[in-house]
Amino acid sequence: MSWWSHAVFYQLYPRSFRDSNGDGVGDLDGITERLDYLSALGVNALWLNPVMVSPMADHGYDVADPRDIDPLFGDLTALDRLLAAAHARDIRVTMDLVPNHVSSAHPWFLEALADPSRRDRFIFRDGVGDAPPNNWVSVFGGPAWTRVPDGQWYLHLFDSAQPDLNWEHPEVFSDVEKTLRFWLDRGVDGFRIDVAHGMAKPPGLPDMSLADNELLRNAEDDPRFDNESVHEIHRFIRQVLDDYPESVAVGEVWVHGNERFAKYLRPDELHLGFNFRLVQADFDIADVRAAIDNSLAAAELAAAVPTWTLSNHDVEREVTRYGGGAQGLARARAMALVMLALPGVAFVYNGEELGLPQVELPDEVLQDPVWERSGRTERGRDGCRVPLPWSGHTPPFGFSTNPHTWLPLPADWADSTVQHQLADPGSTLTLFRQAIQLRSARPEFAGGVAWLGDGVFRREGGLVCVLNTGDTAMALPPGAVLLTSGPLTDGLLPPDSAAWLV
Ligand code: NOJ
Repeated sequence: MSWWSHAVFYQLYPRSFRDSNGDGVGDLDGITERLDYLSALGVNALWLNPVMVSPMADHGYDVADPRDIDPLFGDLTALDRLLAAAHARDIRVTMDLVPNHVSSAHPWFLEALADPSRRDRFIFRDGVGDAPPNNWVSVFGGPAWTRVPDGQWYLHLFDSAQPDLNWEHPEVFSDVEKTLRFWLDRGVDGFRIDVAHGMAKPPGLPDMSLADNELLRNAEDDPRFDNESVHEIHRFIRQVLDDYPESVAVGEVWVHGNERFAKYLRPDELHLGFNFRLVQADFDIADVRAAIDNSLAAAELAAAVPTWTLSNHDVEREVTRYGGGAQGLARARAMALVMLALPGVAFVYNGEELGLPQVELPDEVLQDPVWERSGRTERGRDGCRVPLPWSGHTPPFGFSTNPHTWLPLPADWADSTVQHQLADPGSTLTLFRQAIQLRSARPEFAGGVAWLGDGVFRREGGLVCVLNTGDTAMALPPGAVLLTSGPLTDGLLPPDSAAWLV
C-alpha cells in the first residue's frame, strides 16, 4: 500500500498560513516554524499552492520561472529547510504544478511577443476581422483571447496574464519534465496538478456553447477542456514520476461524468484525482449520500483510491456554504467527521480545522482577478483565502508582526485563534485533532462503505458514522461512541451533527 492511500493532506495557501518576515504575506519559513502544529494535527502530507516565481496576477498560478521560489515566499534554501523539517516529522510535501499555462512574464512569452516567429509554444491565432479567433470565454470572465499590438490574438483560459501553452510543442513537454525532476530531485514528494483536464486543445479550436461557463465546472461538450490528447500528457508526466517510486500526482480534474473522470486515473496516468462532489453537495443527507456514492463509484471504475474535499482555495468556506453562524459551523464539524470516516485520501484546507467562515471583504481589498474580469459582478475567491489567526485578541492575530496583512483578518476572530482553540476541549481544532488521530490509529477505519440507512454508513472494519441533517434528534445505532461533532442530548444525536461509533 502506498503512503498516500489513506493519507490526510493539509492544503496550505502559503500567503495565508504564517508570515515569518513581517511583510504581511505568509512564507515558507512561516510554514517550517509551525510544523509542530501540523504534526500535532496529525496530517501525513502537505500540499503547497504555488510558490514558484510569479508576478502574482493569480497568486502564483501565473508562473514566470517554474524552477525557482518567489522571493515573497523565500528561496530554494527555505524550501530545503521546510522539506527537511517536514520529513523529520514524517510529513510529506507536495507542490502545485501548473502545466496548462505560464505567466505573461515568462521568458518564452516575452520572446513570443517580441518575435512572431517564436509564438509556437503558445496558442496565437489571427482573428476574424477585428474579432477573436473563436468565441471562447475565460473561466475568470471575459474573452479567452487577448490581442497583441501586431494584431494577433493569444489564448488564455484564465487571466490574460496566464497565456495557455501549446502542448503540441515538444519543448513544452521537455520543460515540464525538467521542472518535475528539479523538484523531485530536491526531495519533493509529488504534485497537485493544476487544471489537469486542460492542456490539450481540440483541432481547429471550435466555438463553445456559452450556456455553461461556471467557474471550474465543466459542461459535457466544452471544447476548452477534457480533450482526448490530454491523456498522452498525463502518461508522459507519470513516466517521469515513476522514476521516483514514492511520489504521487493528484490532479485537479473537473470533468463531466465518472467515465471521463476515471480515464485520468488509469494505471499509467494520475495516481489520484480530486473529486469535488462533496464540495458541491448541500447539507442534506440525500445529497451527501449521492455525492459519497458517486465518488466511490468513480474511484472504483478506475480501481483508484477515492479522494475527499470539503473546501479549498477556490470555493466558499463550508461553514458559510452550510448556512453560516453557529449552525453553519455545527454542520461543517459534522461533515468533517463524515469526510474523515471515508476510505481513501482526505484533504483539509488550512483554516478548515479552525472552523473559519468565508470573510466578507470590502471592495477595495479584493485581489482575485475574477473581480475585475467579471466587471466587478463576481467577488472572487479572496474570502476563503484570508490569513489564519494564530494567537492574541486583535488582528492580525499572530499571523504576522505587520498589521498590514495582504488581506485583513476580521476583528472578531479572537475565539477562532489556534491558541484559543488549543485550550478548549470542545473547539473545532480539538475535534480535527481527535478525528485525525483516531482515523490513523484505529483498525475500524478499514475497508469499504455500506449504508445501514439514510445517514448511517459502516466501514468494513467496523466504524459506524451517523450524520443528522434533519431537524429532529436521531437515535444512535448500537455501539460505543468514539467521537461526536457536538454534544449528544439525552443520548440522541441532535440535528446538524455527526457521530462515530465502533
Ligand atoms: C485552478 C486553481 O485551483 C485556481 O486557483 C487557479 O486560479 C486556476 N486553476 C488557474 O491556474
